[in-house]
Amino acid sequence: MIAPLSMTVPLGERAYSIHVGAGLLRDATWLAGLLRARKVAVVTNAVVAPLYAANIRAARAGGETHDIVLPDGESHKTLATATKIFDALLEHRFARDDLIVALGGGVVGDMAGFAAACYQRGIAFVQIPTTLLAQVDSSVGGKTGVNHPLGKNMIGAFHQPRAVVIDIDTLRSLPLRELRAGLAEVVKYGLICDADFFAWLERNAERLLALDSETLMYAVHRCCSIKAEIVVRDEHEQGDRALLNLGHTFGHAIENTTGYSRWLHGEAVAAGLRMAASMSERAGLMDKADLLRIESLLQQLGLRTDARGELSPAAAHAAMSLDKKVKAGRVRLILMRGIGRAFVTDDYAEETLAATLEAHLA
Ligand code: NAD
Ligand code: GLY
Repeated sequence: MIAPLSMTVPLGERAYSIHVGAGLLRDATWLAGLLRARKVAVVTNAVVAPLYAANIRAARAGGETHDIVLPDGESHKTLATATKIFDALLEHRFARDDLIVALGGGVVGDMAGFAAACYQRGIAFVQIPTTLLAQVDSSVGGKTGVNHPLGKNMIGAFHQPRAVVIDIDTLRSLPLRELRAGLAEVVKYGLICDADFFAWLERNAERLLALDSETLMYAVHRCCSIKAEIVVRDEHEQGDRALLNLGHTFGHAIENTTGYSRWLHGEAVAAGLRMAASMSERAGLMDKADLLRIESLLQQLGLRTDARGELSPAAAHAAMSLDKKVKAGRVRLILMRGIGRAFVTDDYAEETLAATLEAHLA
């Protein structure tokens, strides 16, 4: 095991640690310390359980542990599936001082966290994210929830985990397409507030794709630090936390309109980052040179960003109006004054938005 890089998310009585390392799940003794509880429920799915559930059992060394294995996929991120988690917790008589472990990607993490937020009005949970997207984004910050037929992530709660354990070795079993999708979120952090990290990504794209351990650990740790800083400033998304949605308003429109099947979330975010950059350049906020660097890095990471023919500009605009970030009927956007200088705004010209959608989708 490579010694973990650890940090604290300083949220007062809800403070917790994030540990980023290689081989953490294989170190049963180290892991045991974080999983101490009378009973542990490991919420995972049918793909991840055969790969990593045994590591949790080894760390529990015979302590009462129940696997709750959910079906795989975003289509199962529903109240009906959450109810199955509640059923299992009740059957096994879990109490408020017991523990849930979320072992899997963002879908498992969001559902296990939601169950932890609701069960007996809130029990502790530990996030063990196994996709890059979950490691750099969804496992940190306490947003949990499920989808409703009328909207994604519409039913949920803020509930911070007790700890986050990130073993980058789990990325070795992840399909390359999922890894690339996670890299879109990594690029997002550089664009939001860290131009040096963006430049580092330009230099290290190949090493990331080759799963070099130290490179991945540095990148994941940097992303988690940025996310933690933003969450501490604005835990409940009254302001700055919306920066984390850079590229997402455009991306959600693509996902929504294409039925969450043809585009992975991170792929849609990559296309959305390009559109946000393009709109920023069109509005005279950002240099063309920065736009070209962004397009080039996304391409280097093997991310598709061309959504032409997938949805009409009108359909995209309609989908964007349903976004959770709509305030008083106006879509709030995250734009950039340059790489590393994102800001939230509803002060933009409708024609610039229309021209951006036209240029990228028509
Ligand atoms: P996912 O959870 O569906 O995982 C992607 C696929 O990889 C799944 O098939 C999964 O079973 C598989 N998988 C997971 N780990 C694996 C591993 N190590 N090896 C092999 N296969 C593995 O998708 P995701 O991209 O991780 O997460 C997307 C979800 O995260 C969405 O529901 C999104 O809304 C949510 N999200 C939440 C937040 C938040 O702040 N809570 C932030 C961003 C995204
Ligand atoms: N993924 C957005 C957030 O955590 O706020």
